[in-house]
Amino acid sequence: MNNSLKVLFDEHEIITGAIETARSAKRLIGINDEEYELAISELIRFFRVYADQYHHHKEEEILFPEMAKKNDLLADGILKEMYDHHTWFREMLRAIELDFEHKQYVAASEKMDEYTEALLDHIAVENEELFQTAYTLFTDDELENIYFRFVDLDRELGDSKKVDISKLIGELNLEINEINN
Ligand SMILES: [Fe+2]
Ligand SMILES: [Fe+2]
Repeated sequence: MNNSLKVLFDEHEIITGAIETARSAKRLIGINDEEYELAISELIRFFRVYADQYHHHKEEEILFPEMAKKNDLLADGILKEMYDHHTWFREMLRAIELDFEHKQYVAASEKMDEYTEALLDHIAVENEELFQTAYTLFTDDELENIYFRFVDLDRELGDSKKVDISKLIGELNLEINEINN
């Protein structure tokens, strides 16, 4: 099987790791509020930059339109659903950020739970259904072309910025686990 969609699967794994970090961060509330503040602001930045700019834009600007060209039913069905989720994710992040700015930590944390749950479900649908469908729709050449467009998008946004932000989340996870243990 042509492995062009591996970029997206790999990004899903990194995003899933950040979701785990968000779950661990919750335990800091009331124990170490300063660390919690730091963790949430880094997580919001990660979800906005990595999950949205790098990842959701690859799907919205490259993969989904190519899939829609192949099949109208997909465009009006599952693809529309995926776009709608992305829009809702953006709105939720903004709402979490506002709660957080007003130091409404419990509300921010509840919304973060809702956001991460929905994001996990969304990732599962893409991994198990949508990307599998994509492999059946495209020829190897088409998949390769999609892959190169993914690489270009990363380059435009900054390859090193992408690596740095995922490393930062890994380090944050370690820090939180140390505090919690
Ligand atoms: Fe998506
Ligand atoms: Fe995705």
